[in-house]
Amino acid sequence: MTAPFDRDHGDYSTREDGMSKNHSPLSQLRLAVMISGRGSNLEALLKAFTDDKTIRIVTVISNDPKAQGLRIAADHGVEARVIDHHQFASRIEFDSAVDEFLIQNRIDLICLAGFMRILSDEFVARWSGKMINIHPSLLPSYRGLNTHERVLAAGESFTGCTVHFVAPEVDSGEIILQVKVPVLAEDSPETLAARVLSAEHRLYPQAVRLIAQQKLPGYKG
Ligand code: GRF
Repeated sequence: MTAPFDRDHGDYSTREDGMSKNHSPLSQLRLAVMISGRGSNLEALLKAFTDDKTIRIVTVISNDPKAQGLRIAADHGVEARVIDHHQFASRIEFDSAVDEFLIQNRIDLICLAGFMRILSDEFVARWSGKMINIHPSLLPSYRGLNTHERVLAAGESFTGCTVHFVAPEVDSGEIILQVKVPVLAEDSPETLAARVLSAEHRLYPQAVRLIAQQKLPGYKG
């Protein structure tokens, strides 16, 4: 298969050289947060790094022009870019447009935060070790959607959330941090989701800080 990013936007190696010359990951980690909806994890990241000069949320990308998180970005004075997947003929063309925007912004790390589109293997390979995700379960258990319903149906006494590097298979990839959250007898999917979500809001900034402090060998920036 031809390399889509080469075909559409030029040579990989040239652009990678450009990335490494133009910034120092040690002095400031430049983040892009990718969303599709509500944006509460985006908000947690924005709040956590407001006064942190070593971590900067440079841009927020949404594939959905109606995502509530776009308003959160605007309220924090962060540039948000809608790259609407409906405007592209194929997944590869959408991913290439996202890739180009990330390169233009000299992004060191992508944080997926409720980003609901599957990314191509080519895009995932391109950003391997530089793209992380948060998932509302203790991976590798309960990959995919409707985690809280499935946790309750299985009668689990604990669930949790996980920050992990993104690998081609959905909700797989090296685990960075996890935290356990108790399941209570009276929980509904909604009450459990709310308890897990507040744990997510604490966990995601911690994982980004580990990367900024260069404490994770898995980070390939
Ligand atoms: C979170 O539960 C996250 O773990 C999952 O999608 C949800 C996004 O919520 N990947 P929000 O948009 O950050 O509020």
